[in-house]
Amino acid sequence: MDGKVVAVVPAAGLGRRMGAQRPKQFLPLAGRPLLSRTLGQLQAAAVVEQVVLVCPPGQEEAAWEQCVRPYGLAKVACVVPGGKERQDSVAVGLAAAAELGADWVLVHDAARPLAAPELFARVLAAARGCGAAVAAMPARDTVKQDDGQGRVQATLARERLWLVQTPQGFALPLLQEALARAQAERFYATDEAGLVERLGREVRLVMGSRDNLKITTPADLALAEALLTGGASGMRVGQGLDAHRLEAGRPLILGGVRIPYELGLRGHSDADVITHAVMDALLAAAGLGDIGGLFPDSDPAYAGADSLALLAQVVERLARAGWRPAQVSATLAAQAPKVAPHVPAMRRNLAGVLGLAPEAVNLAATTTEGLGFIGRGEGMAALATATIVPLGRA
Ligand code: CTP
Ligand code: MG
Repeated sequence: MDGKVVAVVPAAGLGRRMGAQRPKQFLPLAGRPLLSRTLGQLQAAAVVEQVVLVCPPGQEEAAWEQCVRPYGLAKVACVVPGGKERQDSVAVGLAAAAELGADWVLVHDAARPLAAPELFARVLAAARGCGAAVAAMPARDTVKQDDGQGRVQATLARERLWLVQTPQGFALPLLQEALARAQAERFYATDEAGLVERLGREVRLVMGSRDNLKITTPADLALAEALLTGGASGMRVGQGLDAHRLEAGRPLILGGVRIPYELGLRGHSDADVITHAVMDALLAAAGLGDIGGLFPDSDPAYAGADSLALLAQVVERLARAGWRPAQVSATLAAQAPKVAPHVPAMRRNLAGVLGLAPEAVNLAATTTEGLGFIGRGEGMAALATATIVPLGRA
């Protein structure tokens, strides 16, 4: 008698701001696809009877195989192709919900995987009262309005400001009417409640949750991962290894420091073996390949190149992929000369380029007790480990 409740999950966006290879809803979050987690929360919400999933056109099958079937999400009744704008996707999902005989719909972003099952129940209960309700958080920070040119125009009264989330619950006919009117008038809102407000109808605010964050950038993904795993995560680790031959007539440059010695390392660039291992570790952590691919030694541009400058390029490359170095540790294996006196300068050099405190860059040196090519003084090798975190994280 309370009527049938169907959830509509818009998951047809491209996730441009995430900048990943695939739409963000298909990316792994704490070991399984983000979308499967969102659907899992709806599966666990007793008030939801069925779920309509709206996917990027052409990816319905993949979504089903990767995000629905392996996780036993039996409430997912159908997967339908979405549209250009979020509102178009919701319109398609709403039509499918109507076909399933829905009386009430809960629209919930695929990109909000941490909505608690009880939140769906509270939003629905409020919607039953007046026809429409949304999860929202009171603004905590002071909110200012700009004049479009980076200057403050006004400070808004925070007491009455809310930041709106999903789920958003509606009587199906009400949302259908609001959507039809908006589509006819080519009006686009950033949420469904906005369309209902346009009809002059009441929309209730329901206390949402801070954890119910919308995954938009890699930093959001890392935060969600940390919330789910209860620890600092989103961190990645990579390792790098490099070796160069020693010969006469070359300068010895390690960690950007020129060290007095009768031999130097041979290489296309300045052959700074420590910095090379660090670059490879950073690239490995970000899944960006290695320095051979980035700075090919067939390219004359890198002849005699300053490896610290190349490191700066690697840092830039990481930033473009949404990462920053968090910590680096390197070990040099060399029989001679003694490098310990130069270690503080090397740490400062590397830390400066990496944007880190020298404490976050450790350098160790070891001999190999006369063993092997290193022990015989024919060459040097360096091994490095780097941890990186999403940009924007502390
Ligand atoms: N969405 C959708 N159809 C669209 C656009 C968005 O179903 N044409 C969905 C997204 O998949 C997401 C939700 O609406 O679950 C909220 O949108 P948003 O966070 O903006 O996701 P994207 O549009 O994918 O991301 P971006 O704006 O960065 O491209
Ligand atoms: Mg979008």
